[in-house]
Amino acid sequence: MSQGTVAPISAATRLCAVYGSPVRHSASPAMQNAGMASLGLDWRYLACEVPPERLREALMGAAAMRWVGVNLTVPHKLLAVPMMDLIDPAARVWGAVNTVRFEARDPSGDWVPIGQWRDGPIAEVRLHGFNTDADAIVRSIREDLGCELRGSRVLLLGAGGAGRVAALRLAAEGVRELFLVNRTESKAAAIAEEIPRLFPQSPTQVRLGYPAGAVDLVLNATSAGLRETDPLPWDGEAFSLGAAQMAYDMIYKPAETRFLAAARAAGCRVSNGLGMLLYQGAAALELWSGQVAPVDVMRLALFTHVYGATR
Ligand code: ATR
Repeated sequence: MSQGTVAPISAATRLCAVYGSPVRHSASPAMQNAGMASLGLDWRYLACEVPPERLREALMGAAAMRWVGVNLTVPHKLLAVPMMDLIDPAARVWGAVNTVRFEARDPSGDWVPIGQWRDGPIAEVRLHGFNTDADAIVRSIREDLGCELRGSRVLLLGAGGAGRVAALRLAAEGVRELFLVNRTESKAAAIAEEIPRLFPQSPTQVRLGYPAGAVDLVLNATSAGLRETDPLPWDGEAFSLGAAQMAYDMIYKPAETRFLAAARAAGCRVSNGLGMLLYQGAAALELWSGQVAPVDVMRLALFTHVYGATR
């Protein structure tokens, strides 16, 4: 995949952004601008510091300026839900929006993504909310780890925002047995109750606590590991990583957490969470542009931005 030529900014340049607070650390502009250039789009992607109490204004301002779309990160994903004119059914299930697509009504009354608007004035714009995070978890586990989730046994560590979405998405994927462990047990218990209500057809047996036997995958969805001084996210007395075939850490910086290093030493196939960031961004670009995202270009830009090297 070639690195596209970046057109100079002109009156025809269209804008996108990630809104967050804090947002200065975001790797999304590097990844998205590389992807957009590769597709030959005269678009730019910014990172905007938006405090939660100004989120509605910031969304309305972008819509008024006919932006293509925005991504939302901490702390906006839940707050944005009631601000949407329309919500994708999956985003409603996860209860969070990470991608907003601005859509314009054409003369025949159809809603067209602004990123795919041909020409002419736009009279009416709506905000269409999506969630590309949940599918990105499954895609990264499948592609970066080579793990087939359907019918598998998974130990999930963490029941915060990311852990909840992962648990629900794994159940939707048809994991056979899902073991939930969290420092605050009541949060894992609440998710265990939610799964059969949301996915009555799912074959997933949800259990609280560590598994007795082997698992296919152990997934860290806690934030323990972001700092060197953090405790380990699992209890080594209760569960040996040698009982897992694969290990995935949603954390991608540091590139190898103590959890991943221990899993690798125990013989597990391992992956960090950079792929999640990549695939949620690729899906957002596809929603806005209607084109297949250049995933390899975006991965390289992301890797270089996050780790400062190409490999
Ligand atoms: P996110 O949106 O990243 O999921 P979050 O909702 O704050 O952030 O959730 C953080 C997760 O990491 C929770 O599962 C949290 O456990 P609690 O629910 O008990 O708070 C977990 N976590 C954070 N620090 C931890 C630590 N030091 N040890 C174990 N788990 C930790």
